[in-house]
Amino acid sequence: MPPDLIERPIDFLFAEHHRQRQAANALQLVGDSEVNKSGVRKLIEFLKTDFAIHVADEELSLFPLLRQYCLPEDNIGNLILQITEEHKKDKETVASVISILEGLLAGHALNDKFRQVIRAFAEHIRQHLAIENATLLPIAHVRLDSEALSVLSNMMKERRNLRKQ
Ligand SMILES: [Fe+2]
Ligand SMILES: [Fe+2]
Repeated sequence: MPPDLIERPIDFLFAEHHRQRQAANALQLVGDSEVNKSGVRKLIEFLKTDFAIHVADEELSLFPLLRQYCLPEDNIGNLILQITEEHKKDKETVASVISILEGLLAGHALNDKFRQVIRAFAEHIRQHLAIENATLLPIAHVRLDSEALSVLSNMMKERRNLRKQ
């Protein structure tokens, strides 16, 4: 990620979504039985770090700001509820996917059930991104003013131990 992108926090979230789409594509390949150990290692690392931090950016920083800045007609409460539900399911699935991937690194074979879990997770990531890119981030773009964006950016930096402005 370009280091100063976090100064534009919504663009940063879009860029993280792009990385998640790449991760979903990589997971799909693993699900289709193309196992590349260094790729699998990177996937595990991504799911344990940046993927988890991104969910915290949304739930702990972006959502409270949206609740504060959106207008009633945005119906933001319902969207946040839907996305939070998906994150909850993701957290459970991520744990299983990581343990399957770690098993692969340890030399275990991928059975049909595991393959199915990985493919379904890849598909779920793609659907989740599509919703957030089409609704959540465009609303944030319209409603958050420069003050809110700077609060968001600073919270995201703090989460990554980066210096605030
Ligand atoms: Fe997201
Ligand atoms: Fe999300």
